[in-house]
Amino acid sequence: MTKVKVAVIGLGSWGECHVEAYRSIPGVDVVAICDTRPQQLMQVGERFGIEGRYTDSMELLQRRDIDLVSVVTFEENHLASTLEALRSGMHVLVEKPVSTKLQEAKAMLEAADRHQRHVVPGHLLRFDPRYAEIYQGIQSGKIGKPKSMYFKRARTKGMFEIYNRTHTAYLSTVHDLDLAIWYASSRVKSVKAVGNWVTGADSPDILWALLQFESGAAACFNSNWMTPDQAGIVMNDSVEVIGTEGTAQFDNRGSGLELWDRNGRLTPDINIHRVMNGSAAGALRDQLHYLCECIGRGADPVYTSFQDAVHGIEVANAIVQSAATGKEIML
Ligand SMILES: NC(=O)c1ccc[n+]([C@@H]2O[C@H](COP(=O)([O-])OP(=O)(O)OC[C@H]3O[C@@H](n4cnc5c(N)ncnc54)[C@H](O)[C@@H]3O)[C@@H](O)[C@H]2O)c1
Repeated sequence: MTKVKVAVIGLGSWGECHVEAYRSIPGVDVVAICDTRPQQLMQVGERFGIEGRYTDSMELLQRRDIDLVSVVTFEENHLASTLEALRSGMHVLVEKPVSTKLQEAKAMLEAADRHQRHVVPGHLLRFDPRYAEIYQGIQSGKIGKPKSMYFKRARTKGMFEIYNRTHTAYLSTVHDLDLAIWYASSRVKSVKAVGNWVTGADSPDILWALLQFESGAAACFNSNWMTPDQAGIVMNDSVEVIGTEGTAQFDNRGSGLELWDRNGRLTPDINIHRVMNGSAAGALRDQLHYLCECIGRGADPVYTSFQDAVHGIEVANAIVQSAATGKEIML
């Protein structure tokens, strides 16, 4: 594989994981990083020995030696860096939600087409073997055409204090929307949603959505931030897909691993991102590896779909509107 040079913009909790994961991929060099917080920039730069450090993404994006950029900034400000990176000739991975505005998501896709670059959404669950196996079961005919789908995604109340900055539909449900659209291979035609604002934040702590697809599939989503931190359950997710030929399901309630210490019990994530023997592993690394490998050999990263991500934002918009008005939304 040709050496792939990458940059990461946004070095919060998830951006740092991107740096960690890229650095574990042979043939990939992280040559530049950016964050508006100088202290965080210095800390990540020192930790990984990266010399190209920027507090202004536009300055970083003037470099001509970068093949791929991860945009890992706040949910609502992915657009400017993405458009400038594409204009400068770089491929871009945009974290989920690619945007909270449909017009912005469409603008990213149009810019990628215009500049003949790849823009890829950070929907890494397609690289989690459990979700991927369900997709393969649908494709092979073992499960058949999906008729009924259920997705639950539950996180802790403590995480909500950080992430209530963005509506639950974009922050959390959007992962499952991408999976449902992928599984159904179909557009959504109607949306009905109900929210519960338990803590009084702008975003609902509990969100239910019922979708009908053009394919005839129905899908139900429950995203909530109600797990008490003391329960020690970092993730409490489940999925069930009933197809014409069979059913697939799993329930992760964490990873299967439990750590008991003086503070109680913790079920740490080991599927999405973990570091083992100094090297990153999990769905994030697999996603970035796939993308770098495609770029290295000049192939299209077709396993992911920005078109699906754009439709996911269209559906998330309808969920927000339906939860606010109580009305069913036709797309
Ligand atoms: N795919 C996943 O499973 C997954 C997991 C976690 C987070 N995310 C997504 O990743 C993104 C970042 O999430 P996070 O949890 O790391 O958030 P965070 O708040 O911890 O970090 C965001 C960082 O971006 C920096 N930043 C903001 N605007 C910037 C700009 N214009 N230029 C440079 N730096 C800027 C901030 O200073 C901060 O350090 C969000 O879109 C989030 O939804 C995805």
